[in-house]
Amino acid sequence: MPSFSTHKFTARPLAPQTLEMEGISKKTMEEHFKLYQGYVNKANEILEKLEGVDRDPAKANQTFSDIRVLKTELTFALGGIKNHEIYFGHLGGKGGQPGGALAAAIQDNFGSFDAWAKDLKATGIAARGWVWLALDHDYGHLFNYLGDAQNTFPVWNATPILALDTYEHAYFIDYGAARAGYIDQFMKVLDWKVVEENYARAAKMSGR
Ligand SMILES: [Fe+2]
Repeated sequence: MPSFSTHKFTARPLAPQTLEMEGISKKTMEEHFKLYQGYVNKANEILEKLEGVDRDPAKANQTFSDIRVLKTELTFALGGIKNHEIYFGHLGGKGGQPGGALAAAIQDNFGSFDAWAKDLKATGIAARGWVWLALDHDYGHLFNYLGDAQNTFPVWNATPILALDTYEHAYFIDYGAARAGYIDQFMKVLDWKVVEENYARAAKMSGR
């Protein structure tokens, strides 16, 4: 049995302030929330199917098999849950810059806040799905990682503390194809207090 076969995911509701933001409309957020709910529902469905999947080694196959499809798409659904919970969780703020330990860590790793923001924006335009600012626990580095889908290119033993959704659904209603404008607006509605808390939790995991 998969170790979390009895686990059921539940969608976390959007905080009210995420529905009244400048530049990222209520309509965008409501539609976006429906996609997130879809990932929650699919993760639950996949876990249920995994309980009964045929584990006969003769049936498992790397080209196509039920266990392959379920385990591959579980990572997509789980990524869709986790990525959006980080993203929604730090929207609805006033932008600006972080303070405290996170400000110092960004300064150490990128040279300045502006250099970090420039890298985030360029990475966001280059990505097909996500950018994550993550703390690598092995090396103590903060880095803007690029993801092309919900489940591509994460690295082990690193914790994302900020997530920028660059899928078209995150901005097309409000910005059309002008993704750079959306990223600028994302920075203006980011709640740095939440990101600072995410960093503090991640830093604790690192023992730093
Ligand atoms: Fe999304």
